[in-house]
Amino acid sequence: MPLQDSYTLPAAADMHVHLRNAPGPIASLVTPTIRRAGIDTVFVMPNLAPRPVVSVAEALAYQRALQALDPEVTYLMSLYLHESITVEEIRRAREAGIKGVKAYPRGATTNSQWGVVSFEPFHDVLRAMEEEGIVLNLHGEVPSSAADGVTVMNAEVRFLPVLKELAAKYPRLKIVLEHCTTADAVEAVRSLGDNVAGTITAHHLSLLVDDWAANVHHYCKPSAKSPEDRRALLNAVVTSNGKFFLGTDSAPHNITAKKGKGNTAAGVFTQPYALGYVLTALDEALARGDLPPGSVTDGALRGFLSEYGRAFYGVAPAARQIRLTRGGARIAESLKGEDKGEGEGRVEVEVEVVPFRAGEETWAVEWL
Ligand code: DOR
Ligand code: ZN
Repeated sequence: MPLQDSYTLPAAADMHVHLRNAPGPIASLVTPTIRRAGIDTVFVMPNLAPRPVVSVAEALAYQRALQALDPEVTYLMSLYLHESITVEEIRRAREAGIKGVKAYPRGATTNSQWGVVSFEPFHDVLRAMEEEGIVLNLHGEVPSSAADGVTVMNAEVRFLPVLKELAAKYPRLKIVLEHCTTADAVEAVRSLGDNVAGTITAHHLSLLVDDWAANVHHYCKPSAKSPEDRRALLNAVVTSNGKFFLGTDSAPHNITAKKGKGNTAAGVFTQPYALGYVLTALDEALARGDLPPGSVTDGALRGFLSEYGRAFYGVAPAARQIRLTRGGARIAESLKGEDKGEGEGRVEVEVEVVPFRAGEETWAVEWL
């Protein structure tokens, strides 16, 4: 039995987004698509370049710049785990309403060059986060290393002992294992307490390793894995019980960074159609038999898309509702924008970002 043709749901929360530097051409292009997707609350990643968001002042300035692009969205802010962050800064972060600190293992992904080599030096900061209720957001991969036998295929599984050690050492610390891609990650999150949750992206509910091997727009970190892993993610969505919620990891890159001369940039851009991708993936999973008939309940959708993420971060339930209608929209071939710059020495920048499943039919979103 496929999904219904229409769903009325609370506005969604996307607990992992990349909006890039603001002001800036990609942020200007992407931020206005958040509400078009039926989302009113986002948790914003701090891996900006040339400088990541490492202080409360920077996070608040970034938040203000995003508010200028769409004031109706609630932007939950994060810091980038870095040696310059002090215990006092964590206390100030809590007072300023900053919700999380993201740890990037150094060398694991885009802009992780300022990231973590070992969690040992961060002991006092992690303790302070535990006390203040600030979430530790984990990019759950170890860097690839031929010497250690690590490739993109086992980088997440090799990270899981670190997750378990952190959960044991800081038993009250709220931890999110971001963008889970394996059955092992789902199992690890399930085995830990209520203070540990996982996000699942829209694209990992449909992609497999073969898809990104053939298409740069499907390549991201962590990369998509096996049919068994995908089945585990799909089942985690519909049996989440609060342990798993939506975090799209929508990661826009200019087309020149995806298709230029160097290595392709990691990231799948899903922001404008995030909920449609999830529904399409669930529908396809029902048709394949990866999900049992009747498993995609209204309650499961409400929880995964809207309620569980907000509850984990301690933000209020959605005030508005949305209606999703099957087949009512088509995914753009690309989104194009330009930034004329300002003042003297202004430079005109043109950007083009290609969304996931470009050109396909998808679900329409209406605000009620
Ligand atoms: O695919 C990814 N893209 N994974 C990440 O961890 C970072 C992100 C980005 O910033 O583009
Ligand atoms: Zn990300």
